Amino acid sequence: LKAEILASVAGAENLAALEEVRIAVLGKKGRLTALMKTLGAMGPEERKAAGQALNVLKNEIAGALDARKETLARAALEERLMAEAIDVTLPPRPERQGSVHPISQTIDEVVAIFGEMGFTVAEGPEIEDDWHNFTALNIPLDHPARQELDTFYFAGPVEDRKVLRTHTSPVQIRTMVETKGPVRIIVPGRTYRCDYDATHSPMFHQVEGLLIDKTTHMGHLKGCLTDFCRAYFGIDDLPARFRPSYFPFTEPSAEMDIGCTRAGGEFKIGHGDDWMEILGCGMVNPKVLENCGIDPDVYQGFAFGMGLERIAMLKYGIPDLRTFYESDLRWLRHYGFSA
Ligand code: PHE
Repeated sequence: LKAEILASVAGAENLAALEEVRIAVLGKKGRLTALMKTLGAMGPEERKAAGQALNVLKNEIAGALDARKETLARAALEERLMAEAIDVTLPPRPERQGSVHPISQTIDEVVAIFGEMGFTVAEGPEIEDDWHNFTALNIPLDHPARQELDTFYFAGPVEDRKVLRTHTSPVQIRTMVETKGPVRIIVPGRTYRCDYDATHSPMFHQVEGLLIDKTTHMGHLKGCLTDFCRAYFGIDDLPARFRPSYFPFTEPSAEMDIGCTRAGGEFKIGHGDDWMEILGCGMVNPKVLENCGIDPDVYQGFAFGMGLERIAMLKYGIPDLRTFYESDLRWLRHYGFSA
């Protein structure tokens, strides 16, 4: 009996099988338990001898069960460790890297180019008052730019109602009021107009430039902006021209066009085939200087403003402005803005 039981203990292949063996031997209806029950019917002498023998056997079997249990448990653990092992030498799964948004990239480029020319970055609030956004810039009350159509007005009394700035030009005013003297700033930022189609968005970005000193003239303005466009588009002989225009805050005013292509066709900007308007500019209107407490007989300078989405669209050949705000990874990858 002993040999038979020990053999079945050794033969149990796993913990569950071993438990079955234990129950079959030591359980309530187990073989050894049945033998123990026969002790009661024996005489005292016989019971003593048989009881001792059975106890020895029981201990022996229990010891074998424990030993086998430990062996099996260790084997099971070993097996699990093997199965769950992490191979630290495997190459990692590729993770897609994030990237800087194309508008931010464009701001960085523009700021770097003007930085080389000595311009520093200035910023102002996106919620402006009527005076900074319009009046100080010599935009009279009846100017079309003031119509509710274009401007997002905040609720409140008309005299001091706030607006979402319609351009970055109010930062010109804030800077001149503060410095009262020479200025050389570039102002990237968000601007707002009530307008929506493929080339307009209610929120868009502009870069403003302002230079004030005692000697600057229109020729400096043309040279500065021509240099900027050539650097930004990476075309050394990019054609540029200035057309007379009108802005209440500059006098004289101009719009700058760049050539879309060149005989030979080494480059192509935009969809036209001759000139593309790229920005507005001019010499700061003396009235604006006066509004800021600067003496126009001493100081003068130039200002310009351009749409950031517009110059990015021209550079990368993007047809729809609204796609800048959709965060579509396929779009970002297509234009090389993301890995
Ligand atoms: N503020 C003008 C606009 O939004 C652009 C501009 C800025 C023109 C500075 C001239 C000088 O259209």
